[in-house]
Amino acid sequence: CQRQDGRPSKQRLLVVANRLPVSAIRRGEDSWQLEVSAGGLVTALLGLKEFDAKWIGWAGVNVPDEVGQRALTNALAEKRCIPIFLDEEMVHQYYNGYCNNILWPLFHYLGIPQEDRLATTRSFQSQFDAYKKANQMFAEVVKEHYKEGDVVWCHDYHLMFLPKYLKEYNNKMKVGWFLHTPFPSSEIHRMLPSRSELLRSVLAADLVGFHTYDYARHFVSACTRILGLEGTPEGVEDQGKLTRVAAFPIGIDYERFIRALELPQVQNHMKELKQRFAGRKVMLGVDRLDMIKGIPQKILAFEKFLEENPHWRDRVVLLQIAVPTRTDVPEYQKLTSQVHEIVGRINGKFGTLTAVPIHHLDRSLDFHALCALYAITDVALVTSLRDGMNLVSYEFVACQASNKGVLILSEVQHSLLGLGLFW
Ligand code: ADP
Ligand code: F6P
Repeated sequence: CQRQDGRPSKQRLLVVANRLPVSAIRRGEDSWQLEVSAGGLVTALLGLKEFDAKWIGWAGVNVPDEVGQRALTNALAEKRCIPIFLDEEMVHQYYNGYCNNILWPLFHYLGIPQEDRLATTRSFQSQFDAYKKANQMFAEVVKEHYKEGDVVWCHDYHLMFLPKYLKEYNNKMKVGWFLHTPFPSSEIHRMLPSRSELLRSVLAADLVGFHTYDYARHFVSACTRILGLEGTPEGVEDQGKLTRVAAFPIGIDYERFIRALELPQVQNHMKELKQRFAGRKVMLGVDRLDMIKGIPQKILAFEKFLEENPHWRDRVVLLQIAVPTRTDVPEYQKLTSQVHEIVGRINGKFGTLTAVPIHHLDRSLDFHALCALYAITDVALVTSLRDGMNLVSYEFVACQASNKGVLILSEVQHSLLGLGLFW
């Protein structure tokens, strides 16, 4: 592909993900503030510079009025983002329901909802219907913006029907689908009533990607065992059509962190933090407040450490920065209360009039504050019970260029970190 000046033009790419890289906060009838969204998908794709890319995704907020929708569409256009507006009921059924109450726990081996989380089979069905409907809405927007030769890259468990809908529209469209979570063993995937439809829809893509070889292997064996298809070294074959399946571990834009550490505001912030915690070792957790991140387990382990090592009680502090996530899902609400209760109890038990052992923040930190915190940390605690590809561990290592901090990883993360560091 050549531009008029003779230089090769960049490949056009349509990134399609449930979440846009920026989140919108309404400031007036037609004014919006945009902030970078937290989450691994966004961080991983920030390094995507080789493409002429546009991003299609859910606006992330309910905007029932046309004035607001138009203003937000314009504000997002400057960031090369195209919003999809979903109403409250759709968000409830598709995002809170099928995505985050069914697929997310299942893909992380937490099972499928029991009676208390899923009142009737009918509600399962209506969530599944909404999921398909939402995927159709995404497909419609892709169709509007697609030009011949574009590559369409669909992301994550929210959009497993999208490859099928896109290929039905235009079989020549180049479609990739990448999963940012684990893909579970076929024994687990088998528990899902819609197991076959989901697999077949993903298989409509040309290329299907996972973080690790194991997740790719699980997917291929789900296709062979559940659908009875042929697994090959390249992927899955169905009636002569091959869908390529492979592992592509994501990473971070390492240089962005290194550059940030040189900035005066980051250096000043580091100085302030060092003074604030002088004489104490700093332990750090940075997570979305999600059950897979093992946050209660991390805090309880810290309590045990203080109990068993009284001489450390006034020499160490745990900073837990936990950005709220999926706050309308009851399981996440329960987790938030549980974490607050444990932190309060431990601070009550070991705190003094001048210091507490745990600083827990329920919020996101901006990029520079996060870099400063990583840089002055002595021990980073990444305690996921199961995770797709945890990027916090990479970010911490990137910011430790001049420190001699320690990264403590739960067993489940060891193989993932190894992949990212050596590939
Ligand atoms: P996940 O994909 O489950 O969100 P990752 O560890 O892969 O988990 O990625 C999380 C991303 O979100 C990282 O880039 C991290 O810096 C960012 N993040 C997580 N929690 C916070 C927070 N409290 N403040 C700022 N950024 C955060
Ligand atoms: O890691 C899985 C994932 O769904 C990412 O795609 C996303 O960045 C992150 O979790 C945050 O989730 P949500 O968009 O639901 O806040």
